[in-house]
Amino acid sequence: MNVLLLGSGGREHALAWKIRKSGYLNNLYIAPGNAGTAMLGTNVSISVTDFEAMKQFSLDNDVDMIVVGPEDPLVQGIYDFFHDDEDICHIAVIGPSKKGAQLEGSKDFAKDFMIRHNIPTAIYKTVTLENIVEGNTFLESLPSPYVLKADGLAAGKGVLIIDELNDAKRMLWEMLNGKFGKASSKVVIEEFLSGIECSVFVLTDGNSYKIFPVAKDYKRVGEGNTGLNTGGMGAVSPVPFADKEFMEKVRISIVEPTIKGLQKEKIEYKGFIFLGLIKIGEDPKVIEYNVRMGDPESEVVMPLVKSDLLELFISVATETLDSKTLEVDGRFATTVMMVSGGYPEAYEKGKKIDGLENIQDSIVFHAGTKIQGNDVVTAGGRVLAVTSYGNTMDEALKTSYKNIEKIRFEESYFRKDIGFDLRIP
Ligand code: AMP
Ligand code: GLY
Repeated sequence: MNVLLLGSGGREHALAWKIRKSGYLNNLYIAPGNAGTAMLGTNVSISVTDFEAMKQFSLDNDVDMIVVGPEDPLVQGIYDFFHDDEDICHIAVIGPSKKGAQLEGSKDFAKDFMIRHNIPTAIYKTVTLENIVEGNTFLESLPSPYVLKADGLAAGKGVLIIDELNDAKRMLWEMLNGKFGKASSKVVIEEFLSGIECSVFVLTDGNSYKIFPVAKDYKRVGEGNTGLNTGGMGAVSPVPFADKEFMEKVRISIVEPTIKGLQKEKIEYKGFIFLGLIKIGEDPKVIEYNVRMGDPESEVVMPLVKSDLLELFISVATETLDSKTLEVDGRFATTVMMVSGGYPEAYEKGKKIDGLENIQDSIVFHAGTKIQGNDVVTAGGRVLAVTSYGNTMDEALKTSYKNIEKIRFEESYFRKDIGFDLRIP
């Protein structure tokens, strides 16, 4: 079959790498893709939210399936766009309906959904300018620190954790007055939860589901989880603390009620659900839902999937996922992100990348790269993800770190402590 994959990051290179291995694949197109995806298929210069251009391209090139990497097209309703148009409704879209994508597109919707279905999460209150006074009272009822979340999509920057009550009240006012534009015209105030986080990925056809290997990402730019938040500086999978007992709790208290809740509310959902979880004591709570795979988690999860991913996607589209098994590699996978100096603040692009040809025992997934003449050059903040396997987490990390040293571009940076908090003392 012919597949159009949307996105241009490390996640999409990892998805393309995995889809490329499928016996069901004929042509793979990636819109817009990067220098890495160009080695696995044909990059197409279409924006991920230009649905009309995608329709035309799909008809012209006999596309059978669209696999959606990032959240924007999902929240903007790509599933419904294809589903509701008789010329293109035969094309399967792997991702939720517009309503389902609200689990990521609106934190208020997600919290309400969790409450309706008794899914464990932090206590909260949603506030607009109209009831800001109630918001301030709610803040006063909570211990420090205070968690404020823009309701809508804010490119990963919409969550603020603030120590002082007065600062939190001031920030609430600023957010409601447009700090994140329309995304923060509603703000979710949450109780602060203290624990260790992990990312759980569930693939569903709306009835049945498969739980993919659990991953942990490292969002802060600095070692020891310090400094600014980034799109992710590295990841490991599986996660030692997410053991059988914990995952059974996740399944029963979170995954099952989420799938049943979607069914009960007649929300169409054929794609990945990403549960951002926190382990408090022995129990999981949901920090957030996303409606896609994670990045950089995909760069460790996809290499651990042994099953044919496209076969699983086909069974999602035909609602026969229950007849499939998910086979998983028993090893560890780790990835370390090489980023542009200065990221996540200002950084330069267009730096020539050398040494890619020297890497043998790691997989280098491209994120912000492009081809320029005969060179691969940097084109974003996160540039490359160096993924390795190992029988232990440390063995995998050692390989990633050995190989990252062989790749060079001006002012590159990477964290040297990925996985540090998972080591058994
Ligand atoms: P989100 O965009 O909702 O994933 O939030 C970004 C990050 O903020 C999460 O990965 C957590 O580290 C942190 N966070 C969000 N909500 C809470 C909370 N209620 N308590 C503690 N940390 C939180
Ligand atoms: N790594 C977190 C995310 O993809 O949102």
